[in-house]
Amino acid sequence: MTIGAGPRGPGVLVIEPMGNAGRFLVEAADRLGLRLYAATHEEVHDAYPVRLRSALSGVCATDLTDTPRALADMEAFCRRHEVAGVAACFELFTPLAALLAERVALPGNDPLLARAARNKVLMGEAFAAAGIPAPRWAVARDAAEAHRVARTGGLGWPLVVKPAEQGGSWGVSVVDGPGGDALAHAVAAARRFTHARPHGLELDTTALLQEYVPGTEYSCDTVVAGGVAHPLPVVRKDTTEGRYRIETGHTCPSGLDGELAGIVQHTAARAALAVGVRNGIAHTELKIPPGTRTPYVIETGARLPGDNLCEVVEAATGVSEAAAYLQAVLGRVPDTAATAADAASIRFLLPERGGVLRRASIPEAPGTHGELHLRPGDTVPEPADSACRIGHVVARAATAERARDLAAGVVARSLVEVG
Ligand SMILES: Nc1ncnc2c1ncn2[C@@H]1O[C@H](COP(=O)(O)OP(=O)(O)OP(=O)(O)O)[C@@H](O)[C@H]1O
Ligand SMILES: [Mg+2]
Repeated sequence: MTIGAGPRGPGVLVIEPMGNAGRFLVEAADRLGLRLYAATHEEVHDAYPVRLRSALSGVCATDLTDTPRALADMEAFCRRHEVAGVAACFELFTPLAALLAERVALPGNDPLLARAARNKVLMGEAFAAAGIPAPRWAVARDAAEAHRVARTGGLGWPLVVKPAEQGGSWGVSVVDGPGGDALAHAVAAARRFTHARPHGLELDTTALLQEYVPGTEYSCDTVVAGGVAHPLPVVRKDTTEGRYRIETGHTCPSGLDGELAGIVQHTAARAALAVGVRNGIAHTELKIPPGTRTPYVIETGARLPGDNLCEVVEAATGVSEAAAYLQAVLGRVPDTAATAADAASIRFLLPERGGVLRRASIPEAPGTHGELHLRPGDTVPEPADSACRIGHVVARAATAERARDLAAGVVARSLVEVG
C-alpha cells in the first residue's frame, strides 16, 4: 500500500506541501493514520518529488494566486473528500488557509489577523498592538525615502532592510551606516521581488527598515490548539555575520537556562497569538541583546519551520512538530511533551562565492547524516541568502555542544569546489 494513501482515517488538505516541511507532514500523517491531500498548481505538482506525490491521497489542482477561485475549488474539494482539517505548508498561503478553514467551518486561524503572519509591515503593527518586544521599524518605497527615514526615524545604525513579504533571507541586508550607496542597494534588493516562485503570487514590494537587534538568535515554535498555546523547545540559531545573514545551523537544546528558555517560549507564544494563530503552528525567531533577558521577536510565521528543524527538534526531544500541527488543525490535543532529552544540530554547507558546483561530497561519520542539495554542474548562487546552500549535516549526541561540534566537524571535512 502506498504510504498515506487508502481508505484510512480523517483527511487533511495541505495548501502547498512542496517545501522543506512537506516530508515531515507526510511522515506524521502516516504515523497518525491520516489521509493527506494537496492543494497546488498543476505544473507545481508535476515537479513534486516522487515520494511526496505517491504519499498523497488526492490533489486539488487550482490557482492559489486567485483567492476567490482557489477558495471555491478547495471548498468543493473539502466537501467531496470529507476533509477534516486544513493546513498550510507555505508561509505566503497561510492567510488563504485561514480563509478556507473559516469557509468550511474547520479549526483554523483568525482570518482577520492572518495576513500579519505573511506581511512584515502588518506583523510589526500586530506586535506593537500586543506590546511584544520587537525591533522598531519604518517603511520605505525608494532610496530617498529610506535615507530620510534613516536620518529622522530614530532607528540608529546598523539598519536592517528587508522585503515586506519574502523568506529565506532573500533581499535581507544589514547596512552599517549612511555612507556610500549601501542603503540604496539594500532598498533595491529588498524591493526586487514582485512575485513569489513557484506559483507567481504577487508580493508587497514595500521595503522595511528595522532597528538592528544585537545578540544571539533563537527560534521557538508554538502549537496552538483551540486558542491554547503549547510551546515547543527553544532552538539556538547561528548565522553568518556582516551584510547578509544566512543561517549556518541550528541546535536543540538552545543552551539557555530554564527560566530564560521559558521567557523565550512565552514571548514566541504571544507572537503567534498576536498574528492570529488559533489552531495551527507558528515558527518564531527571536534575538536576546547581550546583558538582557528580553527576547525581541524578529519574525513569526504561521507554519512549520524549514531548515529540517522538524528533524532536529524530534531527534533531540522526541516531539514531532508535524504531528502536533496536524493534531491541532484536526481540533485534537497536540502531543507536545518531550519524550527524550538528547541533542541534535544541523549545519549547512555554504559556498564562499557563487559559480558552478564542480565537486561536492560529505564524509560519513557515526551519529551524523548528510545530504547534498545541489549536484555538480548546478549553479551556486552568490552567498546572499539561503538559496546558496550546497547541503547539510545533521548530528545527534548526548549534549548540544557535542552535536554541534560533530556536525560542524563533518561540514569542515566536506568537499565543496565552486568554479
Ligand atoms: N531587526 C533585526 N535585527 C537584527 N538582525 C536581524 C533583524 N532582522 C533580521 N535579522 C537577521 O536576518 C535574518 C533574516 O531576517 P528575517 O528572518 O526577517 O528574514 P526571512 O527572509 O524571513 O528569513 P528566514 O526565512 O531565513 O528566516 C534573521 O534571522 C536575523 O539573523
Ligand atoms: Mg527569518
